Amino acid sequence: VVIGAADELARLAADAVEERVRARAALGSRAVLGLATGSSPLAVYDELVRRHREEGLSFAGVEAFLLDEYVGLAADDPRRYRNVIDQELVSRVDLDPDDVHGPDGLAADVPAACAAYEIAIVAAGGIDVQLLGVGADGHLAFNEPGSSLASRTRLKTLTRGTRADNARFFDGDVDAVPRHCLTQGLGTIMQARHLVLLAAGRAKSEAVHQLVEGPVSAMWPATVLQHHPHVTVLLDEAAASRL
Ligand code: GLP
Repeated sequence: VVIGAADELARLAADAVEERVRARAALGSRAVLGLATGSSPLAVYDELVRRHREEGLSFAGVEAFLLDEYVGLAADDPRRYRNVIDQELVSRVDLDPDDVHGPDGLAADVPAACAAYEIAIVAAGGIDVQLLGVGADGHLAFNEPGSSLASRTRLKTLTRGTRADNARFFDGDVDAVPRHCLTQGLGTIMQARHLVLLAAGRAKSEAVHQLVEGPVSAMWPATVLQHHPHVTVLLDEAAASRL
């Protein structure tokens, strides 16, 4: 656990990504990144873009997987997470868009699409570094409270609270936020080799308290990280205020 200023936390998360990208490139193999949407990782993406432009950090050959996706948003909808990540990171660096994958929120056969997503992650060699945010209710990706700690990529129903939290991306209209999503499961996330979680603000302090100090419970999904051997938790003072 590191408590620090926003820019310092973004640098530490970017360090974890850069280290893995460079190490893999030196070995002639591809790094596999797990990308998250939401506001928490934005400063990390800005820092990675800066390193790409100013320090020659290359993402050529890197493969990336998203944590989750809304169900039913049109392919060109700017709120679709696949499009959000294009805008925030992919289009600003030399990451090949064809090497960026997300669960298919428009799939006709949802269970098949979810199974295919799990297989794609394994086929890529597994995720080296996974960036994570956390919901105020302790959700990881879209694994809401009550999610099985062993869950895999699947369809989930979003809680009213999460839809309200995310309404800010839909002109403040909670009814415009999709009711369903596809999300990597907690079991999927736990298979990444290094997890880097960022949380900022007092609204996250209870989730952070549970994550770090609470008993492991499906009612606070992020507590599953206590069973992972390599987790970096990056917090600002407010998010850390209940530790
Ligand atoms: C969203 C996303 C999560 C994200 C979380 C926190 O619902 N599906 O992946 O980590 O909520 O979001 P934010 O970083 O904007 O607070």
